[in-house]
Amino acid sequence: MKEKVQILGFAGSLRKGSFNKSILATVKEVAPDDAIIEIFDLEGIPPFNQDLENEPPEKVKTFKKKIRDADAILIATPEYNYSIPGVLKNAIDWASRPFGDNAFDGKPVAVMGASPGILGTARAQYHLRQTFIFLNMLPLNRPEVMVPTANEKIDGNGKVTDEKTRRKIRELVEALVVWTRKMENH
Ligand SMILES: Cc1cc2nc3c(=O)[nH]c(=O)nc-3n(C[C@H](O)[C@H](O)[C@H](O)COP(=O)(O)O)c2cc1C
Repeated sequence: MKEKVQILGFAGSLRKGSFNKSILATVKEVAPDDAIIEIFDLEGIPPFNQDLENEPPEKVKTFKKKIRDADAILIATPEYNYSIPGVLKNAIDWASRPFGDNAFDGKPVAVMGASPGILGTARAQYHLRQTFIFLNMLPLNRPEVMVPTANEKIDGNGKVTDEKTRRKIRELVEALVVWTRKMENH
C-alpha cells in the first residue's frame, strides 16, 4: 500500500474570487496527513477541437499527465444553468480523448460544489456523475458536499469560514483517501 495518496483537484471556474476555488483550497488545509493535494488551474485550456486531439495543446498534455500521475481526482464544480460549466466540460473532454487514451480511466473521483443558490450545485453534480460513467471513473458516493449560500460561508479573502462546511470538506477528502486505497487493493 502506498504511504501517501496523491489527489489532483481542479475547479470548474476561472473566476479569481471563485467559491469553488475556495472550497478546493480548503482541501489542502483539512486533508489527512496521508494525502498529498495538488491543485490544477484550468485557465488556458482552449476550446476542444477534435482535429487536434492527437496532438493537443501543451496545457492539455500537462493536464493529462497530472491526471495519470494522481491516485484520485477531486472536482469542485460550480452550477451553470442547472449543469456543469463549459470550462469544466471542455477540460474533461480534452482529457478523455483521443478514443482509447482517456486519462480518467479507472480513477477514483470525488465531487463537491459551491453556489450562492440554495441547492449548492446539486443538479450540476448529478450531471457530472453521469459523465463519470462513460469516463469509467470510480465515483465516491458519500459524503455529498453541496455548499449552498456560499457567499455567507466564504469571506472576501476566499477563506471558508463556516465550520460545518470545513468539516464536510474534511470528511470528503478523508473518505476519498479510504476509497482510493480500497480501489487500489481490488
Ligand atoms: C452562466 C451562469 C449560469 C448560472 N446558473 C446557475 C444555476 O443554475 N444554479 C446556481 O445555483 N447558480 C447559478 N449561477 C450562479 C453561480 O452559482 C455563481 O456565479 C457562482 O459564484 C459560480 O461559481 P464560482 O464562484 O466558483 O465561480 C450561474 C452563473 C452563471 C455565470
